[in-house]
Amino acid sequence: MIAPEFWSIPASNLTPTELAEKSAALKQRLLDISSRFSDVRFATSLAAEDMVITDALVKAHAKMKLFTLATGRLHQETEDMVKTTEDRYDVVIEKAYPNEDDVQAFIDQYGMNGFYDGEESKNACCGARKIKPLNTALLGANAWITGQRREQSTTRTELNLEELDDVRGIAKFNPLFDWTEADIWAYIQQEKVPIHPLHLKGYPSIGCDPCTRQVKKGEDIRAGRWWWLQSDSKECGLHINK
Ligand code: ADX
Ligand code: SF4
Repeated sequence: MIAPEFWSIPASNLTPTELAEKSAALKQRLLDISSRFSDVRFATSLAAEDMVITDALVKAHAKMKLFTLATGRLHQETEDMVKTTEDRYDVVIEKAYPNEDDVQAFIDQYGMNGFYDGEESKNACCGARKIKPLNTALLGANAWITGQRREQSTTRTELNLEELDDVRGIAKFNPLFDWTEADIWAYIQQEKVPIHPLHLKGYPSIGCDPCTRQVKKGEDIRAGRWWWLQSDSKECGLHINK
């Protein structure tokens, strides 16, 4: 049997000068944000884009707090990346946990893996394990940062550097909004940024363990996220502004 060929880290055609310019611009974006707002929080999933931002913000000395949504359903490799990143960059990554009662209510109603039943139950699980903890993690912040890129999905083509998060009434920034997948990997290789081990096993995009799988070569980079749902519902709601 021939093993299917999975997604692998793309090659970059950026020249060293182009990469240096992009990196400098990213650091400047992060510095501008941290100088405009008194309490900026960066949401990291520990996947490639977020590792680029982490590297850049540390090297730029941009002041912001880091947090991750510790959903309780992450891969062990993601849990391990928290410590790897903290040690490498001498930062603290706060863990935002879901409320136990909310998780239990989901399990009682839908079952532990009830999210496979459809969009409604998937949204209920993401609501309890991601959205509510995100709301709590952002209490008191006046701006937050994500690693979203326009190229990632049809739902992200209109992304801008700065947006208004209407839900929380604070500013939201996507400092990699105009970066390509190849730009991300060029930066990671150039700066020797720690790589989430699942990226080396055919995963271009990494979410919770039961809702993420490998992607075949040539498939959409988000094809491994909530693969049992229609493509227009492949968002967990973290980035719905209205
Ligand atoms: S998702 O909405 O489909 O889950 P995606 O995995 O593309 O999001 O990540 C987009 C951005 O959302 C990340 O760059 C990061 O800023 C934020 N994010 C996603 N998952 C988490 C997480 N577990 N903890 C913190 N931030 C996250
Ligand atoms: Fe639940 Fe899956 Fe959403 Fe994680 S990604 S919160 S396990 S539905």
